[in-house]
Amino acid sequence: MKKLWSKGGETLHPAVNQYMVSRTLAADAAILPFDVAASTAHVRMLATVGLITNAERDQLVAALAEVLALHEREAFVLTPEQEDVHTAIESFLSEKLGALGRKVHVGRSRNDQVLVALRLYVLSELEGTMAEILSTAEKILAFARKHEFVPMPGFTHMQHAMPSSVGQWSGAFVEALLNDGEVLKSVRAQHDQNPLGAAAGFGTGVPIDREETTRELGLKKVQVNPIFCQISRAKFDALTLAALSQVMMTLGRIANDAIIFTSQEFGFFAVDRALTTGSSIMPQKQNLDIMEVLRANVAIVASLQLRVQMAAHNLLSGYNKDVKIDKEALLEGFRITRDSLVVAGLLFEHLTPNEERLLAAFKDAEIFAADQANRLVMSGMPFRDAYRKVGEELSTLKPEDPVTNIRSKKHLGATGNLGLERYEAAISELKHPRS
Ligand code: ARG
Repeated sequence: MKKLWSKGGETLHPAVNQYMVSRTLAADAAILPFDVAASTAHVRMLATVGLITNAERDQLVAALAEVLALHEREAFVLTPEQEDVHTAIESFLSEKLGALGRKVHVGRSRNDQVLVALRLYVLSELEGTMAEILSTAEKILAFARKHEFVPMPGFTHMQHAMPSSVGQWSGAFVEALLNDGEVLKSVRAQHDQNPLGAAAGFGTGVPIDREETTRELGLKKVQVNPIFCQISRAKFDALTLAALSQVMMTLGRIANDAIIFTSQEFGFFAVDRALTTGSSIMPQKQNLDIMEVLRANVAIVASLQLRVQMAAHNLLSGYNKDVKIDKEALLEGFRITRDSLVVAGLLFEHLTPNEERLLAAFKDAEIFAADQANRLVMSGMPFRDAYRKVGEELSTLKPEDPVTNIRSKKHLGATGNLGLERYEAAISELKHPRS
């Protein structure tokens, strides 16, 4: 098996390649467009600093564009012998342009090539994920608006606690997603620095210009120290997956609530048939198992973060191939999170409150106990005395009109003043950041 790094003579046992490369090639293909972008920036910079001529630059840039075009037609096939996408591209350039193709790798290493490609890949996926967060948040917000004043019991310890509302329940997920959006934004800021030029992890002896490739790539600044560039790979991966995990935690709570609140026991919401599956044996079943799959996916994304952290936390500073497992983890993390966001948005478009069942939960007046104690406080009684008095006279509590009750609570965030309009401003701020 002839390799890029082969100096003649030696042969690699096929099992080595099989073990190290075959599984990860699909993930490598996913970062191809980003390697082409970074390689193009590298080539332009080589011409600026005089390591190649402008005519050579133009030939290389055109050949790189051809790689991308072939890839888009699924005609650029990676083979295990090539080891990775970076080698495959260099081989293509060498085959096409001869000696010129063999010039392209000066001043860089696959170690920084993969770093910069991953960085661009993550930036692009973060943008797509943000768009999906906002689209899902908008769908849930529309639902919250529509059912803003539909009473719903609030639970603590799985028991009736205080009056709440469908607006308050669903509004919580809008705000949670917006918070997750802010987390993604900060991950984006971390990724906005250019590791290209770190080379194998210690810089290079040729006079490259890292500011230029940074400008070419539209990144904010150079990530300066080459060893930091290398050790930041797994750190940034873990950060990215932690942010995705935050999104998944929000969606997991939605999934679990949906499963429970649409069950026969609760019946708070009905869900369209389009979202449920049947049973092979029980004709009556309508399972909301899509939410069960979503719930399990929360665990998968959390485990992906752990995977990259465990693979890299104890490595010697510098490049070690352990870190190459990150591509599959990132790919899977983004895929699951983005798909899950879509599914969560779909849920709220197909969910209808069952007002009768929701109101029935207020028949037992005990859910108004805290409100009654607060009323005594408002007429002058110390809270602890009011609490005790209501507690001693629970059986005398009178049922209240739930709608009047939830509308009467006026502080910001309370059921009568959810502040849903604030979320619109937050959504457009995340859509069109001012900075
Ligand atoms: N494809 C590799 C990765 O994902 C980069 C290759 C670095 N190879 C090497 N022998 N240092 O990390």
